Amino acid sequence: MNVKLLERVSRRDALKLGTLGALSAAGAGAVAACAPSTVAPVAAPAPTTAHYAHPSDAMFMPGLSGEIDIAKNGFNPSDILADFDYGTVSALPNGQTLREYRINAVVKNLEVAPGIEFEAWTYNGRVPGPTLRCTEGDHIRIEFVNGSPHPHTMHFHGVHPAGMDGVYEPVPVGGRFVYEFDAEPFGVHQYHCHVMPLAEHIARGLYGAFIVDPKQGWKKAEHEFVMVQNGVDIDFDGENDFYAVNFIPFWFDKHPIQIKRDALVRVFLVNMLEYDPINSFHLHANFFHYYPTGTLLTPSEYTDTIIQAQAQRGMLEFTYKYAGKYMFHAHKTEFAELGWTGAFEVG
Ligand code: CU
Ligand code: CU
Repeated sequence: MNVKLLERVSRRDALKLGTLGALSAAGAGAVAACAPSTVAPVAAPAPTTAHYAHPSDAMFMPGLSGEIDIAKNGFNPSDILADFDYGTVSALPNGQTLREYRINAVVKNLEVAPGIEFEAWTYNGRVPGPTLRCTEGDHIRIEFVNGSPHPHTMHFHGVHPAGMDGVYEPVPVGGRFVYEFDAEPFGVHQYHCHVMPLAEHIARGLYGAFIVDPKQGWKKAEHEFVMVQNGVDIDFDGENDFYAVNFIPFWFDKHPIQIKRDALVRVFLVNMLEYDPINSFHLHANFFHYYPTGTLLTPSEYTDTIIQAQAQRGMLEFTYKYAGKYMFHAHKTEFAELGWTGAFEVG
């Protein structure tokens, strides 16, 4: 279905038509409750069969009330939270740690909502790509193979020589390139393709987190999670139709993240959203320490909401003192209603 239908009604049309009332029923009700928006449900009469019979409702309801085929997609957003790729580790003659990674660019159809597929351009078949993790001063070597039908690169944020910047050396179809540099500075970074048209290469899925731990390590945390914020432009019109962390809309709403009470939780949060200028993260019933870009050992803010523009990222640390279920979501509530919403389950 779906792609055709979606082409006829843009996401903002969908908002006006009140299709998102249906979303509330599908699991985002608490968003509407916490931050009433201009969307219909607040003032509208109780939903009736007639209301849901509107043709535009049919676009979203089936998609968001069921489950997607995780096995077919080949990755689970919950697993991505704590899936850190430390590479193949060895020592160079000078004693420096060498970490070697292998990344393939491949096209893959991914189911983003039940029945709705998206032709993603991926690093290693997943979106976001592997979370590459190392320690500052390590020597990083990434063998990049382009197994897709378009030229791509890997552009890392960080300090490195010009030839390793992944901008002026597009890797042709079937080509190979080895990126090699010393990891600095420590912090929460990212990598992404840098081939034109840039917004599309990123929006299609060619991005991932790159975490450089400080030599002395971070404060010990019981839970460490990677969340990469993204949009999904199903109909390729340069406007996002869904929003998420770790790619699948509403995933963490349906599958809350289990954490322990009184345990220190660290979130590496990266904003790779294209087409919309600003993203945000709001944690419910709690506050967190925020380390912008993760490049300093002391936090700059104690808050419950932060804003990230494109490519901004940072580290959050918090502890829940009461058991229960707590939402986290974009406080740009339109994004929350279109998928960027989740929950922590504190046990
Ligand atoms: Cu590309
Ligand atoms: Cu960038």
